[in-house]
Amino acid sequence: VRGLPRRRLYSSTPSKPDYAFAFDIDGVLLRGHKALPGATAALRKLADAKVPFILLTNGGGHHESHRTATLSRLLDHPITEDMFIQSHTPFKSLTSTYRTVLAVGGPEPEEHPCDVGDVAKQYGFKNVYTPHALLGCHPEIWPFDVPSFTHRGQVPSDFIDPVDAILVFNDPRHWGPTLHLMIDLLLSERGALGTYSSSNGVNGQWQNDGQPTVWWSNNDLWWQGGYHLPRLGQGGFRAAVEGVWRQVTRGAELKAQTIGKPFRLTYEYAEGVLNRLLEKNVGAGTRVKTVYMVGDNPRSDIEGANAFGWCSLLVESGVFHRGREGGEEGLVGALKPARILAGVEEAVDYGMQRGG
Ligand code: G3P
Ligand code: MG
Repeated sequence: VRGLPRRRLYSSTPSKPDYAFAFDIDGVLLRGHKALPGATAALRKLADAKVPFILLTNGGGHHESHRTATLSRLLDHPITEDMFIQSHTPFKSLTSTYRTVLAVGGPEPEEHPCDVGDVAKQYGFKNVYTPHALLGCHPEIWPFDVPSFTHRGQVPSDFIDPVDAILVFNDPRHWGPTLHLMIDLLLSERGALGTYSSSNGVNGQWQNDGQPTVWWSNNDLWWQGGYHLPRLGQGGFRAAVEGVWRQVTRGAELKAQTIGKPFRLTYEYAEGVLNRLLEKNVGAGTRVKTVYMVGDNPRSDIEGANAFGWCSLLVESGVFHRGREGGEEGLVGALKPARILAGVEEAVDYGMQRGG
């Protein structure tokens, strides 16, 4: 129409785009179980322009096959396992390191028939316990009644194998009993539930002499769920466990491993997934010049993308809020995004304009 500014066309997307996107989920594509405005349109724009993208979330709790089916439905766009990394996906590489593991986190059986114990077994772990199964079998561990634990979960034999590692797949729904079980195992004789390590703390100092290793899969203190204010995430549960651990050991630090955004291991894993996607969809040996990471949490999405050399695009539809934690002025150093945009569609438009 004469006089109206011509809609600026995207830079001609090369037949083989030399850039890609990585999307965070909660607070970028979804809020709770609802797609955010522009999320479906943003993914469709990229698909039409044959720009590859992956989803990289600190969320978890379900097997990747289940979560991608749910995401395809909620986003009304096909999401497949080969473009999807969740917090605990890299745990798959630990199956030859640990034989007996405690798989921690929701969902509970009353939420979903498959729990993280099932996910751990599908990953290939040989001997898997869950807090639900252990507390259902030994309810006296937690001296208060927790209805869901009265269901007899998978009933371990009388002899419970010593636990080699505690893998936190997702936020537990019952912090108290789960925290207590973890502390019991950490204070135990080399992971044997119901024992107390006599060789520890004798000189007032606690050292890890064979207790289970704790693996956290998500360090998010806050995350954006369906409530209008951010919610405490796995990082909040971790702070509770570490606070109790420091008290019961008179000041010892809890030795643990952490993956998930912003940690390098997760971004390296994601880069591998992206490169495999490029090989499959664009051609062998294809690499991209630029990866646009669209996130809502400066301390996971932005910090990790900046450290990994990806272009960090912060959106205002989730955890980041100009009225919280110092707003934009608080985004200094590693937390400073390349750009702040209203939402995911604006972020995609920006990246497509800019290209590789
Ligand atoms: O539990 C999920 C939450 O910690 C953040 O998920 O998708 O924003 O990385 P996401
Ligand atoms: Mg998020």
